[in-house]
Amino acid sequence: MDVRNKIVIITGASSGIGLATAKLLAKQGAKLTLVSRSKEKLVELSKEIPASFAIPADMTKSSDIKHMIEETKKHFGRIDILINNAGQGYDASIEKTNIDTIRYIFDLDVAGPLIAMQQVIPLMRNQGGGVIINISSGTALMHLPNMGVYAALKRALAIISLTAREELKKDHIAVSVVYPYMTLTDFDDNTIKDPIIETEGYEGGNRVPPDTAEYIAQKILEAIESGDSEVFAHDWMGKQ
Ligand SMILES: NC(=O)c1ccc[n+]([C@@H]2O[C@H](COP(=O)([O-])OP(=O)(O)OC[C@H]3O[C@@H](n4cnc5c(N)ncnc54)[C@H](OP(=O)(O)O)[C@@H]3O)[C@@H](O)[C@H]2O)c1
Repeated sequence: MDVRNKIVIITGASSGIGLATAKLLAKQGAKLTLVSRSKEKLVELSKEIPASFAIPADMTKSSDIKHMIEETKKHFGRIDILINNAGQGYDASIEKTNIDTIRYIFDLDVAGPLIAMQQVIPLMRNQGGGVIINISSGTALMHLPNMGVYAALKRALAIISLTAREELKKDHIAVSVVYPYMTLTDFDDNTIKDPIIETEGYEGGNRVPPDTAEYIAQKILEAIESGDSEVFAHDWMGKQ
């Protein structure tokens, strides 16, 4: 889909990949609903981005997600593209993984995007189509020590997305998964950390230097424009 004049909801727009993507899509002529919990950051950002609309929402709360969709529909009259980007990491060995933290990360990284999809699907179907982009992670394709739960939840999001893609083909709704690799954002600082296992000599996650958020934003634009099912930060990631 060409993004010019399209109505886009982007979650996690206050920082990192979401912020870079919001700026890139605005430059390409899209009209944006900017979503995250930080109201002040969003209001400042919406002053910078013409025709944008800021909605503070906690993506672990279904009432906030429904409100974000309803307000966007009211404000712009339609929704063409949903980008489920808000997310948080969790580092812990399997032995020390905290079950309550799993539940929180599940709510944010899996249930939130799923609820947002469920809200936009009927709207997109009535409009004759749309695009949904879900941001997974390269870790979902690997077995990295201390990232088991985060990787499993990001893989769950990918499987949900690819299944929805098959289910929604007939409605002309293209669902795609983007897999960032290590990206220079606040992600690591924001990752919840419990005791980890020391892994001597293990280099599974350190193949190439980290990417910039702007580089991943280009990959997200590529996914929207191509409608490809899966877009990887690097080609080798799809050949794991
Ligand atoms: N950076 C990496 O190395 C990397 C690698 C693979 C995948 N990813 C994925 O890429 C996505 C973006 O991450 P990032 O690197 O840009 O991280 P980031 O800089 O920490 O940004 C995370 C964004 O999500 C928002 N957010 C967090 N919790 C939220 C909640 N409960 N409700 C609504 N918004 C929430 C944050 O805004 P507020 O705090 O204002 O709510 C922020 O805008 C995530 O899904 C992440 O899992 C990142």
